[in-house]
Amino acid sequence: MSKLTLTGVGDAAQNVRLDQDGDLTVGAHDVLLQMEAAPINPVDNLFANGWYAVQPTIPGSIGSEGVGRVLTVGPAADQSLTGRRVVILGSYEQGVWADRVVVPARNVVAVPEGIDVLQLSMAVINPVTAYLMLNRYVDLKPGDWIGQTLGNSAVARAVTTLARIAGVRTVSVVRSEKAAEQARAAGADVVLVDGDDLAEQTTKALDGARLRMVLDGAGGATAGRLATVLETGGTVVSYSSATGEPPTLPLGNLVFGELALRGLWVVSWFHNAPRAEIEAVIAELVELVASGQLAVPVDSTFPLHRYAEALARDASPERAGKVLLTFDATQA
Ligand SMILES: NC(=O)c1ccc[n+]([C@@H]2O[C@H](COP(=O)([O-])OP(=O)(O)OC[C@H]3O[C@@H](n4cnc5c(N)ncnc54)[C@H](OP(=O)(O)O)[C@@H]3O)[C@@H](O)[C@H]2O)c1
Repeated sequence: MSKLTLTGVGDAAQNVRLDQDGDLTVGAHDVLLQMEAAPINPVDNLFANGWYAVQPTIPGSIGSEGVGRVLTVGPAADQSLTGRRVVILGSYEQGVWADRVVVPARNVVAVPEGIDVLQLSMAVINPVTAYLMLNRYVDLKPGDWIGQTLGNSAVARAVTTLARIAGVRTVSVVRSEKAAEQARAAGADVVLVDGDDLAEQTTKALDGARLRMVLDGAGGATAGRLATVLETGGTVVSYSSATGEPPTLPLGNLVFGELALRGLWVVSWFHNAPRAEIEAVIAELVELVASGQLAVPVDSTFPLHRYAEALARDASPERAGKVLLTFDATQA
């Protein structure tokens, strides 16, 4: 069995090696998977660098999410999983960049056959994050407006799709014209390039309406600019910081606008949501993947042994879409 091992804390590109490791023990509550596809998610680099909420073991496994087929089911796990294709809840209790991987059965959800495995492998972390942000904090109604940073990211694409289905309109903020094209192609109602005049641009685009919510993955000043266009009592949800800075909200808007600032970590939901809710939400999202409504552009795919090229491509500014690892069993 081939697997990638994280050998030190730092960027995965410099700290991963390919190992051949024969023995895997399937515990009573586990399943053994033959992996079929796994994206390189930004969380994998956060994890490798020790910047994630789950710390890496060195040497240890790496790889947050993906799709695979169940080969063996532990005696205390659901036997009906045998032979099923499953998506993995990316909680980092397991590293999935391996041909075969042992996963606690509670961290997999069975999915129907006949769906593109590359898209399926990306159906959990980002779409669930988008789903939770749209459903947990503000009772959004058709016609409402929300704003989001990282407007061309995979999370933002999922937000745009789910918002559109709910009749909610999106202002997607990006940092370049190239990214603006990608956000427009993803279906955002309004796409704006960030700058000092972002609040004015947003006000003009909304034509008298106010944002009900801002979803922020960028950190820094961008969410604050959007926050000036929030309704009184509006909510900012912070889910990441591409800039490394916390979101900065103007004090006047925060206090006099009685804004709420919330954080979201999808892994808490994987750990704490009732199983029936997890299965229902994943089933809804997987159906949207099957119909092609939830889709992420694929930049490139690499078999596991070409991991170095995959990680280099993932870090390249030329990348347009996600880079994925494939495995012996992959039938894309
Ligand atoms: N809290 C949670 O539970 C949770 C769940 C899922 C994802 N996340 C986080 O959400 C973020 C997006 O994930 P993704 O998979 O959607 O990413 P992605 O598709 O790879 O997109 C990355 C985005 O980050 C932007 N970006 C990169 N460097 C930046 C910088 N220095 N300043 C501003 N923007 C920058 C990119 O813009 P350009 O195209 O212009 O470079 C792009 O919009 C990641 O940080 C991820 O860890 C958090």
